[in-house]
Amino acid sequence: MKVIVVKDYEEMSQKAFEIMASVLDAKEDAVIGLATGTTPIGLYSKMIEDCKKGRSYAKVKTANLDEYYGIDPTNEQSYVSFMKAKLFDHIDIEQNNTHIELSNAKDAQAECDRYTALLEKMPRDIQVLGIGSNGHVGFNEPNTPFGSDTHVVELTESTIKDNSRLFNSIDEVPTKALTMGIKQVMQAKKIILLANGKNKAKAIRDAVKGKVDPICPASILQLHPDVTFIVDEDAASLL
Ligand code: F6R
Repeated sequence: MKVIVVKDYEEMSQKAFEIMASVLDAKEDAVIGLATGTTPIGLYSKMIEDCKKGRSYAKVKTANLDEYYGIDPTNEQSYVSFMKAKLFDHIDIEQNNTHIELSNAKDAQAECDRYTALLEKMPRDIQVLGIGSNGHVGFNEPNTPFGSDTHVVELTESTIKDNSRLFNSIDEVPTKALTMGIKQVMQAKKIILLANGKNKAKAIRDAVKGKVDPICPASILQLHPDVTFIVDEDAASLL
């Protein structure tokens, strides 16, 4: 595991972009795993600039980590809407090459199984991760078994509270989600985990220095052969 401590959000996004660009330079049809949330927005802005400067994303394929369950995909709070607004609508990617769990699938478990099978067929060259203040990756909440496949999650109170900042009220935050399992996260050839801010410091300490234990899902990354944490000084403050 490599840990890069950077000054601030801008430097974190730049460093993440450099790693992403090196993957895309090597393979124009790379498969990239993406995350939502506030953390990777700076990285996505840099990918948009990169496309404007001339790189084509037409052959790139994407697979997102997770999606809320029980809302319409067209809802502006869905993660598919987020990805369109923050990245896909601004680059030349083919819509058919972007993948995410279906937020209004009738049968949630069948949708998870479809996604697990899809990921088997499109191994990711790189996976972008954020981290929850409770150490979650994707929506794999504390105590999720490390061997889990894509599954339905009851979001914890702490995640609902963290995410309520993006909704009008906490009652509007969906209570369920569909997420890649830890197993699928670990299958990516290369992983970059980004974190900024003091509220991530404990999760970063537990993930980097703690015991590999499902209580901190991100701690499993210590066992991945090619993982880089890019954290700002605040998130690194307990290391
Ligand atoms: C989102 C995801 C989550 C977030 C995490 C941090 O797809 O998988 O694990 O990465 O909750 O969210 P932010 O970046 O909003 O602090």
